[in-house]
Amino acid sequence: MNKKARKVSVTTLREMKKSGENIAMLTSYDATFSALLDDAGIDVQLIGDSLGMVIHGQESTVSVTMENMIYHTQIVRHAATRSLVIADMPFMSYATPEQAMINAARLMSEGNAEVVKMEGGEWLAETIALLSSRGIPVCAHIGLLPQSVHKLGGYRVHGRDKASAEQILKDAKVVEAAGAEMMVIELVTRELAAQISKQISIPVIGIGAGADCDGQVLVLHDMLGIGGRYMKMCKDFMQGSSSIKNAIETYVAEVKTGTFPADQHGFD
Ligand code: KIV
Repeated sequence: MNKKARKVSVTTLREMKKSGENIAMLTSYDATFSALLDDAGIDVQLIGDSLGMVIHGQESTVSVTMENMIYHTQIVRHAATRSLVIADMPFMSYATPEQAMINAARLMSEGNAEVVKMEGGEWLAETIALLSSRGIPVCAHIGLLPQSVHKLGGYRVHGRDKASAEQILKDAKVVEAAGAEMMVIELVTRELAAQISKQISIPVIGIGAGADCDGQVLVLHDMLGIGGRYMKMCKDFMQGSSSIKNAIETYVAEVKTGTFPADQHGFD
């Protein structure tokens, strides 16, 4: 483990955005992978509620509980020495600002998370402002919102029509103004993600959003080719790698150099 490397914080991520260094982020759910990701040079580990799918074998993230998130956050954070650790707020744990504050505080004090992530744009402004004013750093998640899959009727690319693109751009501006430290933007057109990353001063991390974001995130099991699902936005980094660590190092290198995502992983 690289004990000497400087701990990554939200300030580091802002500096990286300013200097043009791409941010490499992956999801992480346990201590063994947490140490490996740290060692391989991952900047940010996300305890994603995707654990409902890749760890619990469910069809969506909707069944994930606060207890699940606290448990996995604790064990990931325990083994992470360099990377910033972000934890997802699970479905319905932030339906009101007060509920969000209580649950975000639990993720930080019991789970030891450094940042909490919530899915939503404009409607989350009051919640983000409240949490931020109480010292809780927030990562907003805009574009495709997996927790709303049943309302959306499936997983599809967002921002393809004018109204949807304008709403997502507005969401990005509103969450930044409300005090979010960073955002994840999922499954939107390359053009829209590039426009948002340019117009917003906080780091924008893309997944299925093209190469012009300030950083990239993937679900760990998908980029290791063990997620059991094919997705155009993903790449199997185990292909041609000699070990899991080597695959993760290759992911870091390709994100840093802008080689991943390539055109074939994005959407118009
Ligand atoms: O839960 C998760 O893994 C996520 C990523 C898709 C960004 O939110």
